[in-house]
Amino acid sequence: MIPLEKGVDYFTQSPVNQTMIDILGSLKERLSTELIVLAHHYQCDEIVAVADIVGDSLKLAQEAVAIKNKKYILFAGVHFMAESADILTESRRVVLMPDPHAGCALADMADIREVELVWQALQDHIQEKIIPVTYINSSAAIKAFVGKHGGTVCTSGNAGKIFEWCLNQGGKIFFLPDRYLGENTALEKRMSSKDLFHITFNPKNPFFLDGVTTAKVLLWDGYCSVHRQFTAQDVRNIRRLFPEVRVIVHPECRHEVVSEADDTGSTEKILKTVQESKTGSVWAIGTEAHLVNRLQKNFPDKTILHLKEPGYQCITMTESTPEKVHHVLSELLKGHIINRVHVEPSIAKDAYRALNKMLEITG
Ligand code: 13P
Ligand code: SF4
Repeated sequence: MIPLEKGVDYFTQSPVNQTMIDILGSLKERLSTELIVLAHHYQCDEIVAVADIVGDSLKLAQEAVAIKNKKYILFAGVHFMAESADILTESRRVVLMPDPHAGCALADMADIREVELVWQALQDHIQEKIIPVTYINSSAAIKAFVGKHGGTVCTSGNAGKIFEWCLNQGGKIFFLPDRYLGENTALEKRMSSKDLFHITFNPKNPFFLDGVTTAKVLLWDGYCSVHRQFTAQDVRNIRRLFPEVRVIVHPECRHEVVSEADDTGSTEKILKTVQESKTGSVWAIGTEAHLVNRLQKNFPDKTILHLKEPGYQCITMTESTPEKVHHVLSELLKGHIINRVHVEPSIAKDAYRALNKMLEITG
């Protein structure tokens, strides 16, 4: 492991480009009557600096719904986030992305055709009620699927409440696509590993589901390749080097990591926990590198470490660059709408039902 010193940033990144921030700021100013910019915590500093609202998936979805009097939302994040904003605003707003090809590898792990095959097999094998729940990191088609079958959506910030809502209704939960968020939430709700069933989709035999009848939570086998890299050994290493450290990790991490950490939560919770901690606190954070780097810069009175130096980047989040934001805003000033994210109404209708139910359940 690299030896660590307070205040040293080991992550290779270029200095913040203040000129670009000023240019984007003045473009935004000229569009201010009709445009709002939303950005996820994993975006680069230049984009975060010009965003009106920065948050986790839950906060950004709630804020999108609350927007009044702005025609355009520029959503700097990944595709499922912009899609969710389009669905939740029922196309009253025009949602644009710096780069609409910026996807989420985890969301891509649940393919709607495979999910429908497995769902049919589950219906054939199981008499009990099954409630489908999808993590917001999923395509609009998957959200529409859960909406059509009486299910809902969750985020890393409200998965516990959504599980409670399901458990109060009885039956099983079919959880997509992040096995680790599903596992971490179920175990937090005092279920045991015996209550979990991991579905591995086998195109040769999609109906092979032995053992599924006794489980309470049926987990799709998706994962985030960024968060999956953290290990329990990383937690032990950082505790050895910094005995006073407190470890907070995102619930997309493996259960062994979450169980050895002091706390877990969404990116917004991680930010707030660090913000509210005492001067001199030492934190090791298991999430994407941009957020950890920003916390290091914004809270110089605290020691903030990557759980594993030098941190892991989400490559697709970096596809939204300041230059692409500049391009979209410049075109908009000329009256050209580019990079729109729009979900076709036949999918949006059921996806809205699922997303809106989540907001009704958890606020
Ligand atoms: P948050 O909703 O916690 O920001 O998580 C989104 C995400 O994609 C984390 O990898
Ligand atoms: Fe998707 Fe993982 Fe990137 Fe989050 S960090 S957007 S889950 S690939």
